[in-house]
Amino acid sequence: MRAHPAGPRHAELLADHGVGAPPADWGGLDPAIWPSGVARDSSSAALTLHGIDVRALASEHGTPAMLLDEADVRGRARAYAEAFAGADVYYAAKAFLSTAVAGWLVEEGLGIDVCTGGELAVALRAGVPGARLLLHGNNKSSAELAAALDAGVRTVVVDSFVEIERLAALAAQRGVRQRVYLRATVGVEAHTHEFIATAHEDQKFGFSLAGGDAAEAARRILREPSLELAGLHSHIGSQIFDTAGFEVAAHRVVGLMAAIRDEHGHVVPELDLGGGLGIAYVAGDDPEPVAPVAERLRGIVARECAAAGLPLPRLAVEPGRAIVGPSGITVYEVGTVKPVEGLRTYVSVDGGMSDNIRTALYDADYTVVLASRGSTAPPMLARVVGKHCESGDVVVRDCWLPGDLAPGDLLAVAATGAYCRSMASNYNLVGRPPVVAVDAAGARVIVRRETVDDVLATDLG
Ligand code: LLP
Repeated sequence: MRAHPAGPRHAELLADHGVGAPPADWGGLDPAIWPSGVARDSSSAALTLHGIDVRALASEHGTPAMLLDEADVRGRARAYAEAFAGADVYYAAKAFLSTAVAGWLVEEGLGIDVCTGGELAVALRAGVPGARLLLHGNNKSSAELAAALDAGVRTVVVDSFVEIERLAALAAQRGVRQRVYLRATVGVEAHTHEFIATAHEDQKFGFSLAGGDAAEAARRILREPSLELAGLHSHIGSQIFDTAGFEVAAHRVVGLMAAIRDEHGHVVPELDLGGGLGIAYVAGDDPEPVAPVAERLRGIVARECAAAGLPLPRLAVEPGRAIVGPSGITVYEVGTVKPVEGLRTYVSVDGGMSDNIRTALYDADYTVVLASRGSTAPPMLARVVGKHCESGDVVVRDCWLPGDLAPGDLLAVAATGAYCRSMASNYNLVGRPPVVAVDAAGARVIVRRETVDDVLATDLG
């Protein structure tokens, strides 16, 4: 293979993209980014997961494939359960759900937050008791609400006035009193290191605090004999590194608790702070461990409640990404390597935006390494792209890969455990990839690959 030296537009391109020079440890396996079970084989330098060579996994299960480090998922779940002891930790199923994963998380002491009938059905199929489930959604259908009631879902997070009526009627028909959380829109939007606190709340979720809808929702819930106002809920965003946004949110939502107590004499006993804690995708992403974050969140709530003269509520949180995100890696096979003279090298892999839409949708950054062997070739500036018919089909926008990369090599992309398989599509009628759970006991397919037959199965001619 020829090397791809920097061409005349190289420096300009690097500057445009803020890429800079390759870091000294390019191609390394930063433990903040990769699952704990990942290593390189001492002789072949191929990537291994719990000692199993990814080349063996790729030849057995095909590529692209998502490999999920079970011990890593369980360890993160346990860390959450410990850090939030005395609180309820509901795993946000939207990040990725299968019956196996639901089973692991329940074994580790978590509940599951589902937000559709589909997620509810998978959790129930996994044997998750209704008492460990929480139902979300801004537009739950009557059928979904009925299914949740019939399953004995512990808490429904209500999101609109019409839903309060629907749920109250369905619960009354069944002769049950359903616990609900009122989702308040607190006017805080957080993303990574920044948050914006605004006076208005321009989004589809929840009841506006500033506009008075949240107080009105509490009034209506408290009027319904078939509903029990068990808690308030706020979710301020995702991939958050800085807890300052939670502080503003807690201040505002505890203010609502105080207002409800003052108006109705009802002390709302629980407070759900949602999900959102971030993970490391690339070098420099520096999320805090969950224990100090949990400490700080408890402190914030305690302070706000003391100031409002309220007893400490039971806390709940809903982490998704932070539980499964770092535990998953996607393995692809390189199909073509195309240097664009003076610019960069386009590396096409056998998946793309159908298995990872996050780069195209959110401009997300990822870390990628050569997985099937080592290399001493100098780094080349590369872009890993998929096989789909559009130029936005990018998996990793800017990366350094060995200059001798060739068709047939395997690449591994880190931190794909959350919101990749769960947001996967059949674009270009490509079957969605399998999910293979790997731990010290071996590898096991927990979601099989979709085949052309699966794709054709819904086509009725
Ligand atoms: N609770 C609620 C009410 C949520 O809406 C979400 C995420 C979570 C919990 C879990 O948030 P996490 O801990 O995973 O950040 N598709 C996007 C993320 C969308 C998040 C939607 N809600 C992505 O790929 O980044």
